[in-house]
Amino acid sequence: MNAAYRDIQPVAEPGTGLVARGDPVSRIDGVAKVTGQARYAAEHLTADMAHGVVVNSSIAKGRIAGLHLDEARAVPGVLDILSHLNRPAMRKLDLFYKDMTAPAGSSFKPFHGDSVFYSGQPVALVLAETFGAARHAASLVRISYAEEPHQTSLLDNLFRTHKPSRLKAGFSPPPKPTGDADAAFAAAPVKVQADFYSGVEHHNPMEMHASTVIRSADGHLTIYDKTQGSQNSRWLVSQAFGLGRDKVTVKNPFVGGAFGSGLRPQYQLILAVMGALLLKRSVRVVLSRQQMFTFGHRPETWQRIKLAADSDGTLKAVVHEAIAETSRNEDYVEVVVNWSGQLYRCNNVRLDYKLVALDHYSPIDMRAPGAAHGVHALEVAMDELSYALGMDPLALRLKNYAERDAVRNLHYSTKELRACYAQGAHRFGWAGRNPEPRARREGSELIGWGMATGVWDALQMPARAQAVLHADGRLQISSAATDIGTGTYTVMSLIAAAAMGLPLEKVTFQLGDSTLPFAPVEGGSSHVATVGSAVEGVCEKLQKRLWKLARAMPDSPFQVSPFSEVEFVNGCLQLVKMPLSAVPFSAILAAARQTRIEEKFLMLPQVLEQKNYARATHSAVFCEARVDEAFGTVRVTRVVSAVAAGRIISAKTARSQIVGGVVWGISQALHEETHADHALGRFMNHNLAEYHVAVNADIHDIDVIFVEEDDRIVSRLGAKGVGEIGMVGVAAAVCNAIYHATGRRVRSTPMTPDKVMAPD
Ligand code: MOS
Repeated sequence: MNAAYRDIQPVAEPGTGLVARGDPVSRIDGVAKVTGQARYAAEHLTADMAHGVVVNSSIAKGRIAGLHLDEARAVPGVLDILSHLNRPAMRKLDLFYKDMTAPAGSSFKPFHGDSVFYSGQPVALVLAETFGAARHAASLVRISYAEEPHQTSLLDNLFRTHKPSRLKAGFSPPPKPTGDADAAFAAAPVKVQADFYSGVEHHNPMEMHASTVIRSADGHLTIYDKTQGSQNSRWLVSQAFGLGRDKVTVKNPFVGGAFGSGLRPQYQLILAVMGALLLKRSVRVVLSRQQMFTFGHRPETWQRIKLAADSDGTLKAVVHEAIAETSRNEDYVEVVVNWSGQLYRCNNVRLDYKLVALDHYSPIDMRAPGAAHGVHALEVAMDELSYALGMDPLALRLKNYAERDAVRNLHYSTKELRACYAQGAHRFGWAGRNPEPRARREGSELIGWGMATGVWDALQMPARAQAVLHADGRLQISSAATDIGTGTYTVMSLIAAAAMGLPLEKVTFQLGDSTLPFAPVEGGSSHVATVGSAVEGVCEKLQKRLWKLARAMPDSPFQVSPFSEVEFVNGCLQLVKMPLSAVPFSAILAAARQTRIEEKFLMLPQVLEQKNYARATHSAVFCEARVDEAFGTVRVTRVVSAVAAGRIISAKTARSQIVGGVVWGISQALHEETHADHALGRFMNHNLAEYHVAVNADIHDIDVIFVEEDDRIVSRLGAKGVGEIGMVGVAAAVCNAIYHATGRRVRSTPMTPDKVMAPD
């Protein structure tokens, strides 16, 4: 069926199976992006545009006692100042503020009263004719507060836990214990117990959050929003303001990274709409880099792991407990500990996950939420166990390889992790590793090799797609999908081109508009399995339509041919492997007197079959770290990431996703942390000078291997998804390499020089 896939399949390397080693298809939106033609949420200016600048609270908890606005109002060009005192009428009930990805609880409602719930909360919006005037006036807004005591430290509040509410799509609470992990731990001959801590991290996409509300004369609002789901933002605006769906359109054709920060509509969207309704004109609100630290973040998390084994390395007990922060108003939840029950074979497993409510904005998903912390702790503890056993870390993983998900008692739909281990180890040269820590030194640097396993869900959600085939052979596909920089435009176009046997130039994929057919938010690395399956599904309907029309043509060679005996090649329908029978689509449409044919498709996941399987992506990560002991500095000089994530549709964009994930894993390992001053209850390093991310100088050799799986349980394409899996396990591999280099175990991230010099 999919002849064109052959051209874009990864190239086979002798002896290693299929691996992606470069691919000629560059992303089709690339030129528009690098030439500035692609316009982002803050770049849609109109003549009547007013500019909003947000004023954020400087206290963490209390009440606004007074807003002193005279000075700000006196700035020339200031139009109005919005706050809880004069915001436009909005719905009252909590349920109208729940976006499609909201966790359990009551969503934050900006300007809905004088209460302050967290430091950085938006408390006023200055609206002016120019951005400069609004910004200057915002600096002149004076607010007096009645302060109340706040709690922002997880570690100071570990005693104050509660069980998380289960109400969040995609969240599974920890499964019930199996066996008796604590007794097995006590009885086993070899064991490790370790506590882990990870600080807050912020997403910091290049494009800052922004919403441009363009108000037409009839009051219709067209909103360019920085979001991972245009329909989610449209839904929230309609609900919160009581505006019909025909009154609001949300567009996000280009998104400059999001990493989870755009899964929920952020407050600038609500504020920009308020401004537009108040002024009855178009309004743009764009957040500053500092304000990017005033909403969701990856939650601060504390973990304890206990692992025990027989002296031959057989795992006897796994205990994994996690305590993470949430806000006072919502139970933000993520899957932290469950991975520890599924990644290795063990009969005695106890997993626990609790929350502590703090005076922060609710945390939000950030690339590989939960796994980034949870799998890190497990994989570092596995490394510790390997040294306790005197066993090679990879051999320990293979010894306890889980052929099935024992805790849930399910077979995997596909699982090529074993091949990932083999191919990754081979490429890296793992067999040449001296097991002794501190065995290699070059100049001032100690050199260590570490490895870890990665795992992430293989998700699929419902989605719709529409296809229009024109008589000239152009194919237009659309769905309200999102491309947050991951390659959605490219991948969806490739899927459609392959299905219809059309050259890529003939295919356009339209996304990023709430009026298009339904698509879920782009999250959980699920867009290929989800929207991609809808695209292939609508193409199949188009194929059948063409085949029926072709059969009706005079002297048609297809009159007696069932659908299974035709194929779609080079813009033609033909009998399988009989190019002489080929009829161009244009001829079929002409014979049917059609200038275009159109199909729609609703893709519903095969849940009844899917629930019988554990569905996951896996990776094996190998890394080399060089540690300068005198300075505690770490350079990650080599990473091999071998990934099993179903069929790879677009090798180049998929590889980019994994490289990006590895870069972020290195960043998590060595750099990223948002520090709070708990006396003020405020994040302090809220800028890219002091919030460190990996930069080019931190990144050296990254090698990506794809071990292909053909998983028709996860999706009709055989694809799973690549995004988050690229990050999982990387920081653990770095930690394990630092240990191998130095003999020092750092159990908190980031592993900054101070910790490397003197581990806790
Ligand atoms: Mo991702 S954290 O699912 O955007």
